[in-house]
Amino acid sequence: NMGRKFFVGGNWKCNGTTEEVKKIVTTLNEAKVPGEDVVEVVVSPPFVFIPTVKAILRPDFHVAAQNCWVRKGGAYTGEVSAEMLVNLGVPWVILGHSERRQILQETNEFVGDKVAYALSQGLKVIACIGETLEQREAGTTTAVVAEQTKAIAAKISNWDNVVLAYEPVWAIGTGKVATPAQAQEVHAALRKWVHDNVSAEVAASVRIIYGGSVNGGNCKELAGQADVDGFLVGGASLKAEFVDIINSAT
Ligand code: G3P
Repeated sequence: NMGRKFFVGGNWKCNGTTEEVKKIVTTLNEAKVPGEDVVEVVVSPPFVFIPTVKAILRPDFHVAAQNCWVRKGGAYTGEVSAEMLVNLGVPWVILGHSERRQILQETNEFVGDKVAYALSQGLKVIACIGETLEQREAGTTTAVVAEQTKAIAAKISNWDNVVLAYEPVWAIGTGKVATPAQAQEVHAALRKWVHDNVSAEVAASVRIIYGGSVNGGNCKELAGQADVDGFLVGGASLKAEFVDIINSAT
């Protein structure tokens, strides 16, 4: 993958109890995986479990929040600010997940603003994009993901701390994984978009990871695609097979 370090994120979504979270972390802590020089691993617990996870997680894995507020904290009941994540020593945040775009009605512009604000506070961002089944069937996949990426690109000037996560909505939690060819096609189109609209340097270095029904059985072939630089994993990140997905880096 042209020198881009493989990246595997585990998005736990709104799942778990203190006991379950400790159990997952224990499994990860005992796992044999390649070093941080080969694969970057982050796990993303719900906000309330972040301190618990941080306290016990192995030092070569890192924590991501699943969201943060679009501007400086203050009178925003129920929100968690980027400053708070920085204060807790959380290095990463997932932004623009399709569940937030769809259920919480986050727009492209709002996601762009969130990415820009999080970066400005020193967070690293996993920015999620992806088309619905309806959009894919209408043949607009490339246009949709380009538009989502454009709304982010319009608000930021430095891509060093951004990972792009391509997550086709129809593949999320459905067991219907994109084929390696489908993933590669979109990842290549995204890289070309970045090349043409940001720079050749950013296109060569930005990691584009795939998410949507990734599991221990399908990860290896997906990981072999030229423009697939890793994964964002939902359901399987709560299970021991997350270790197999991490190990698909090599
Ligand atoms: O963010 C990861 C996610 O949306 C994929 O979920 O359960 O299909 O792996 P899942």
